[in-house]
Amino acid sequence: MNKEMNQPLRERLLMDSDWKFALGHASDIKRDFDYWKGKPFAKQAEGRGAIHPDFDDSDWREVCLPHDWAVELDFEHSSDNDIDYHGYKPIGRPNPATSIGWYRKPFSVSPDDKGKRLSIEFDGIFRDSQIWLNGYYLGRHESGYTSFRFDITDCVSFDGPNVLVVRADASQVEGWFYEGAGIYRHVWLVKTNPMHVAHWGTYVVSEVGDGFAELTLHTTIVNEDDLGNTGTIESAIYDADGHCVATVQSETQPIGAWKEQEFIQRVRVEQPRLWDLDSPHLYRLVTTVREGEAPTDVYETSFGVRSIHFDPDLGFFLNGRHVVIQGVCCHQDHAGVGAALPDRLQYYRIEKLKEFGVNAYRTSHHPPTPELLEACDRLGMLVMDEHRQVGVGEEIANQLRSLVRRDRNHPSIILWSIGNEEGGIQDTEAGARAAKTMKRIVHELDPTRLVSYGGNNGGQSAGINGVVDVRGWNYWKIGANLDEYHKEHPQTPMIGSEEASTLCTRGIYENDEQRGYVSSYDENFPGWGSGSEEWMNYYEKRPYLAGAFVWTGFDYRGEPLPYRWPCISSQFGIMDTCGFPKDNYYYYQSWWTDQTVLHLFPHWNWTGKEGQDIDVRCFSNCEEVELFLNGRSIGRKQMPHLGHLSWMVPYEPGVLLARGYRDGQEIASVTKETAGAPSELRLLPDRIAINADGEDVSCIAVQIVDDLGRVVPIADNEVVFTVSGPGVLIGVGNGNPSSHEPDKYIEPGAVWRRKAFNGLCMAIIQSTQQEGVLCITAESTGLAAAKVTIDTKACTLRPSVQQVEAANLIF
Ligand code: GAL
Repeated sequence: MNKEMNQPLRERLLMDSDWKFALGHASDIKRDFDYWKGKPFAKQAEGRGAIHPDFDDSDWREVCLPHDWAVELDFEHSSDNDIDYHGYKPIGRPNPATSIGWYRKPFSVSPDDKGKRLSIEFDGIFRDSQIWLNGYYLGRHESGYTSFRFDITDCVSFDGPNVLVVRADASQVEGWFYEGAGIYRHVWLVKTNPMHVAHWGTYVVSEVGDGFAELTLHTTIVNEDDLGNTGTIESAIYDADGHCVATVQSETQPIGAWKEQEFIQRVRVEQPRLWDLDSPHLYRLVTTVREGEAPTDVYETSFGVRSIHFDPDLGFFLNGRHVVIQGVCCHQDHAGVGAALPDRLQYYRIEKLKEFGVNAYRTSHHPPTPELLEACDRLGMLVMDEHRQVGVGEEIANQLRSLVRRDRNHPSIILWSIGNEEGGIQDTEAGARAAKTMKRIVHELDPTRLVSYGGNNGGQSAGINGVVDVRGWNYWKIGANLDEYHKEHPQTPMIGSEEASTLCTRGIYENDEQRGYVSSYDENFPGWGSGSEEWMNYYEKRPYLAGAFVWTGFDYRGEPLPYRWPCISSQFGIMDTCGFPKDNYYYYQSWWTDQTVLHLFPHWNWTGKEGQDIDVRCFSNCEEVELFLNGRSIGRKQMPHLGHLSWMVPYEPGVLLARGYRDGQEIASVTKETAGAPSELRLLPDRIAINADGEDVSCIAVQIVDDLGRVVPIADNEVVFTVSGPGVLIGVGNGNPSSHEPDKYIEPGAVWRRKAFNGLCMAIIQSTQQEGVLCITAESTGLAAAKVTIDTKACTLRPSVQQVEAANLIF
């Protein structure tokens, strides 16, 4: 506390609630709230229309952030519109009526805040946003993926109401996949004293020794005041149990008026608890800034102590231990919510990936949401953190700087990627020069990590590939002899920045172009891709490859491959858009984890195919598997390493049973039974107690089951959801790549519903700020309904809220 004023030294307040939203228009001035006529850039606070603080937005819709208006739009099939990339949501230049979004938020600050520095931080807006406060133009930010801030001290009103206005223009695309639209990440109001830790102003570097770690703490203090001053910083390191394990105090240094000063401190931590995949221990650096004796700021930085190393012959090492990169690439959207993920969904997704042995995540192809990195830090997931585009113009170079400055304290990050498949320049001398500049920018800000790039240009070693530290291969199959390459570049570590691109639809076992489904037998992939077994075998034989990132962990909206309409999403995922496993999930789980895995597929509901051969397959890490149909042995086989087993079995309804053996002993068994008609619904929430913070969510999986409780693998019944108590539905999904049903029902009083797809669908429910018990009911015509209750409980502050008080901390 600042004792005189009884005020916290620093506040970082979430600004996610009470926004008003309306679609504007990219070509019709009236429908764009007189944006042009209001001369938004001519004179401060004279702009008219929605920019003006007095504008009447009473007929705009109330929304909470994160918000993605693209996911709310109907799907549209238009052949000349190129909206397939966006999953057939009418976003982009040809859709002026649905590509501009306006947001307005009233808020107030206290007269007691006079004398403080105030800023607004945006974690990410898609895209090209212009921002006004009380009619003052604050500025423009084009990237849809980088985080940015504005100092609002000079235009905020301390005594009256304030109105923050954002116009987001998603007419232009940045990628070739679904990108969402609007303020799809958090917004924060930050209050500090004039002398404070600068924005992203700390950088902790750790060097691990034998039984100790040497930390170098770089801390930038800024003095935003007309008077020069002197400053001292005290740095304290806390372990995850709250024990202070080291402290260090700086010399007092002069900090001129409106100047910055970097402090560099070294401190030793004895017997450090290393950040690792199974024990992702995080330390907190608490930095206290003082003017004389008086504290002016307290700032927290989460970091980890660990060592990383890429060896050109042996691959990757974490804390001195060889770790094969078992990675996935992911885009950022999810079923039901599009690009606007509540924080908990980031954790849900990382947990799901870890379940089948993933240990690394590539943030393809853009800077991620900060909470995704928090989830990776906390759950133990390595990250290749990717910049959107190769380039060196000021705008792009600044995006790169902001990415590294924002993210460099995350222990999960092991590599920076400067871009992906820049076909126009990757082979050229100019591409090499750009990559060199980008590498320099990265290393100036973070000398501790190497730089990579996703190149899809085969054995090309000139251009961008010749510059980056770690050679990233997008697809070994693209005309290259990697062994030769390795021989010719013995100093270059190599990694599969993208592999597989296998296409499967969950629960489908033959291609059906009309309905947009592909077989889950892992037989479909584009020319550059390969089946899971093929690439896994290739990599395993080449220990100089550090491992690879599979394209992709989850299905994602947009880039509908291999089929366009009616498909609206891709089918590359090892899981579907909801996180329901496809069969390949168990292939990877067999070879990427130590768990005993025994998975049989396909399902055993083939009415009409009696007597016909069905290809029954098994993914497992058992040494041998024996298959039985209705009690009769169909054969016992040895499981090939990194392979699968297969039996042709004439169909008859009943029970398929597999028994798995190791050292001749049965260690696992699994059945696939012919399910009867759909009879009832079953609800399986991923969490039955959530925080009553208006943000936390539970993902409720819905199964359609027969009267013996067996999932009906071909059921597509429509399920209607109702909620009572302190919770709201925020999205529904089913993983069907061709479903044109809404993910959200935004009209007041609408009935939330979703069809099952191959027996499953999902509803995502969010808490309100009230404690209590919420109840979600699922109903479907002719089936027994199901109900589940979820406790919503008062919680401590969410992890990323930094509202710390000096008095409670140190010294
Ligand atoms: C890669 C590309 C990805 C995705 C993928 C589909 O070449 O980097 O973004 O398009 O192909 O296979």
